[in-house]
Amino acid sequence: MEAALDADLSAHLTERGFTGRVEATLEERLGRPVDPRLAEIGRLLFFDPVLSLTRDNSCSGCHGPNVSFNDSRSIAIGVGNNGVVGPGRRGPHNQRRAPSILNAAFFPRLMWDSRFIANGLDPFRNDRGFTFPPPDGAALSQLPHLLAAQAFTPVINRHEMAGSFNGSHVDMRAEVARRVDAIDEYRSLFAGVFGEVSDGAPVRLEHIAAAIAEFEFTLVRADAPIDRFARGDHGAMTTAQKRGAQLFFGRAKCGECHIVGRFANEMFSDFEPHVLGVPQVVPTDGIQPFDGPGADEDYGLEQQTGRESDRYKFRTQPLRNAAYQPAYMHNGAFVCLSDAIRHHLDAAGSVRAFTTDRLEPTLRGSLGPMEPVLARLHEFIRNPPQLSDEEFGDLLAFVRDGLTDPRAAPQALQQLVPLRVPSGLPVHRFEPDARLGGQC
Ligand code: HEC
Ligand code: HEC
Repeated sequence: MEAALDADLSAHLTERGFTGRVEATLEERLGRPVDPRLAEIGRLLFFDPVLSLTRDNSCSGCHGPNVSFNDSRSIAIGVGNNGVVGPGRRGPHNQRRAPSILNAAFFPRLMWDSRFIANGLDPFRNDRGFTFPPPDGAALSQLPHLLAAQAFTPVINRHEMAGSFNGSHVDMRAEVARRVDAIDEYRSLFAGVFGEVSDGAPVRLEHIAAAIAEFEFTLVRADAPIDRFARGDHGAMTTAQKRGAQLFFGRAKCGECHIVGRFANEMFSDFEPHVLGVPQVVPTDGIQPFDGPGADEDYGLEQQTGRESDRYKFRTQPLRNAAYQPAYMHNGAFVCLSDAIRHHLDAAGSVRAFTTDRLEPTLRGSLGPMEPVLARLHEFIRNPPQLSDEEFGDLLAFVRDGLTDPRAAPQALQQLVPLRVPSGLPVHRFEPDARLGGQC
């Protein structure tokens, strides 16, 4: 029986082009080894509030190692935070949840509305250019990887890192680079990697972005039971996980959107926005304007395209290591992995039953309207598969355990927190979150 299950799952994986070897392709696709010295500078910068013009936030404020580089909150808290990353983080909310940056090196499009795009659908190649929203457009296309281009954007985002700094996006980037360049320790670290800096040239944002991207290349965690199974170790998955995988790629249709082949780089996403009908959570202390007549909606992709037909569309989320997330969906509406999956199987019922009780107090205000959202559901979500309780349990076991790389556990990543950063600014306080592990 097990042999038949193995054969069937292997056939699904082969048909979809899943090899279980994507992690090993990183350096080949970079065309060079990861540079440990550059990655180390990137690690320091990632944790250093020097990149925030308000000096109070860093990349790690919203992508915390203690929560597997996810957001520690359902909706991100940026400038004006209390220096804590974890359940105790306080401050005014932005609009969406920060996704994990683990494995982002392989994402061909970034963000919940896929607005940062590698035009050739290959993040490792810029020959067809990168498309970003204004003010950048095609201007970041000379950067070597989509993540290096992405690193140019949080530092000019007034809600995330820049605050009310007086100046244009060009001024903001120049000021961030100037502050880094003024720190001797960073200068000498960069001089060790870039000849022009050792020759006396100032540190530029290109250098900073390259270092951050290099650090992110070290954050690939894509060796889960499903990968080991695909490489021939059929004992790597439990029977329940295998049955769940069969459902995932088969009758439950998860694999129609959470795809693995070609440009998806085995990341379980088509990187396309769809309407899933997630409850519209609205902060009572928001600093970012929401959409709609009641200013209580997130129009998703429509914000980028201006097309009403794109309203409420959000990117299919990659699913690796989902068990380690404190919250799910673009606004963290669900804090249990099982609720996020169950939502797909009965969106209207999930919305009716939804309460904000498990969210932080300032996200417990009234929800945005849901009738217009449910009226636009993707057809798969409108006509969901019927699963028995046992089948649901198998599907959950697959997503929770079969896609999890143990090296993505918070305990394994916490050691990346530096004791101090070159600017001398305080490193955030990373508090453990007992909810992780996908058990609820
Ligand atoms: C205020 C919180 C905040 C800070 C600070 C922040 N981010 Fe993010 N990050 C987010 C949010 C929120 C998103 C998703 C936004 C959206 O889709 O609209 C995101 C998205 C991303 C993504 C895309 C991930 C994906 O799955 O598409 C990457 C990569 C990323 N951030 C890296 C960084 C880096 C590097 C820094 C520091 C230079 C940084 N972030 C600083 C909140 C933050
Ligand atoms: C129509 C395409 C589609 C199908 C089919 C689909 N999903 Fe999704 N899934 C999405 C989208 C889109 C999101 C993000 C929606 C949002 O945040 O608003 C998502 C989010 C998720 C999340 C939350 C991930 C996170 O990090 O927040 C999980 C878990 C998930 N899907 C699992 C599944 C499973 C299991 C199935 C099969 C029962 C499935 N999906 C079928 C499109 C799909």
